[in-house]
Amino acid sequence: MWQQKWIMGNWKMNGSLASNQQLLLALQKPVSAASAQVYCAVAVPDVYLTSAKEQVRGFPLVIGAQDVSRFGDFGAYTGEINAQMLADVGAGFALIGHSERRQYFQEDNAILLSKLQHCLSAHILPILCVGETLAQRESAQEKAVVGDQLAILAELSATEVVVAYEPVWAIGTGKIPTTRQIAEMHQFIYHQILSLCGKDVKIRVLYGGSVNTKNAAEILAVPHVDGALVGGASLQADSFTAIIQAACAPAL
Ligand code: 13P
Repeated sequence: MWQQKWIMGNWKMNGSLASNQQLLLALQKPVSAASAQVYCAVAVPDVYLTSAKEQVRGFPLVIGAQDVSRFGDFGAYTGEINAQMLADVGAGFALIGHSERRQYFQEDNAILLSKLQHCLSAHILPILCVGETLAQRESAQEKAVVGDQLAILAELSATEVVVAYEPVWAIGTGKIPTTRQIAEMHQFIYHQILSLCGKDVKIRVLYGGSVNTKNAAEILAVPHVDGALVGGASLQADSFTAIIQAACAPAL
């Protein structure tokens, strides 16, 4: 898994029992066929974790969560789901700090650090999402912003770090950075992780933001791009399958 390309879907707040079942069934063959080269996963709404786990029994699609509670214990936190509960139902990972969480739920570094810590204690792999807004990119602050978002990694004793670089302005917009911009940010993120976590840390840095069937191969061939975090195009079996297959193809 630390040598493979990662193709992860983020379903966001989409799906139903019936449509999930159809989608997962359709992914069985392509995910199995790609499994030597590609580590495939989907982040589903928490209410569907258990049914999705059942539906992927027998094929190597990892099921994970899109968030976790900032609270690690049990008790009076109405509406929350802690990392131990995610582990209990077999979630393999959790997205942490997706830009939609930062934007709509005011999640800051202090909150995200506790989420990362609870995931690690519960043996859930956290995937830290980082990325700058358009205004920050236009004022050349992208490295400062992403560097600040990554800084919390220094507080952890993680031996494995997965980061998704998702420029906010590329999410759901159809706009993507140039391959040169992606390469520059991914190299920067690698460098930051190594200096914050030590040279022995295992790293995967995924790109996210308007990845689709047309651009996946080109993006996945960029140096330091270890995979993709796919939103809209992960909701249809055909498009998600094509992206998985693009990750199998030899680099351009
Ligand atoms: P889109 O692929 O729909 O742009 O979403 C990206 C994303 O937010 C994945 O987490």
